[in-house]
Amino acid sequence: MEAVYLSATQFVRAMTTGRTRPLLFVAEDTDGNAHEVIVKFRRGDFTHKGQVAELISALLASRLGLAVPTPAIVEVPAAFAELVPDSAADAVRDGGGPNFGSVLVEPGHTTWPQGTPIRGRLVDLAAEVFAFDLLVQNPDRRRGNPNLLARSESLVVIDHDQAFSFLYLPMIGGAGMPWEAKDHASDFGYMRNHLFYSELRGSRPNLGPFLTRLHGLQKADIRGLVDHVPEAWLPDGHDLCGQIIDYLATAAKNASEFIAMVRHLLE
Ligand SMILES: Nc1ncnc2c1ncn2[C@@H]1O[C@H](COP(=O)(O)OP(=O)(O)O)[C@@H](O)[C@H]1O
Ligand SMILES: [Mg+2]
Repeated sequence: MEAVYLSATQFVRAMTTGRTRPLLFVAEDTDGNAHEVIVKFRRGDFTHKGQVAELISALLASRLGLAVPTPAIVEVPAAFAELVPDSAADAVRDGGGPNFGSVLVEPGHTTWPQGTPIRGRLVDLAAEVFAFDLLVQNPDRRRGNPNLLARSESLVVIDHDQAFSFLYLPMIGGAGMPWEAKDHASDFGYMRNHLFYSELRGSRPNLGPFLTRLHGLQKADIRGLVDHVPEAWLPDGHDLCGQIIDYLATAAKNASEFIAMVRHLLE
């Protein structure tokens, strides 16, 4: 999957859910085709780092076989500040240059209903979502905040601005890596709050396809994903993209050990 480059032509509405209250626009791609796209402007704790994490995570998720809305890089003319709700006007006015967006999924998808039982084919899909969140260290797909859209047997992951935070705001003493020995498992205690943790515990999902895709990820592939990040998003004085490339390349080399950690956390 590639990111699409869009320019907003019409404001539709503000989303009523989510921490950042994204805005829905109609926007045109470079061939003049219209798309509905949800744009997350930089404001509050959604910073340059959040934009970078969103874009790379979406491209990586797709590469690893998960369903994800097409990520977009969206120009929103400052004049839209007059049309959006007052609470978002400043963000739009200041949001010159590209913003992160996600193309609206097809109708029929709904936010994952709390407590849906996970059976059959969904076990493997849910386990891939769990593994992906451990890989990018995303603590934000929780019970009560699913950040997951679903339609029959398809699980679509959204909202990855908190991924890779451990690279941006390193912990004193350093965080463990999820392919290290099991005694580092306590570094990933937040995974107990994961949307699928309770349902997946004790299950034996097939993570073979995820393992194969992760193991097959070459450094050049990862660079190819990261190359989509617009220059304007690079956080000042921080080589976040370089760190993400090195982190994911090491994860790919240690893919079997990584899957062992996923299994250990789900024991
Ligand atoms: N591509 C998309 N298609 C459909 N709905 C979406 C899409 N992206 C986001 N949403 C909706 O917008 C809400 C907020 O988006 P999200 O990325 O979770 O932002 P936040 O960081 O504010 O929580 C989501 O809960 C979901 O309902
Ligand atoms: Mg959200």
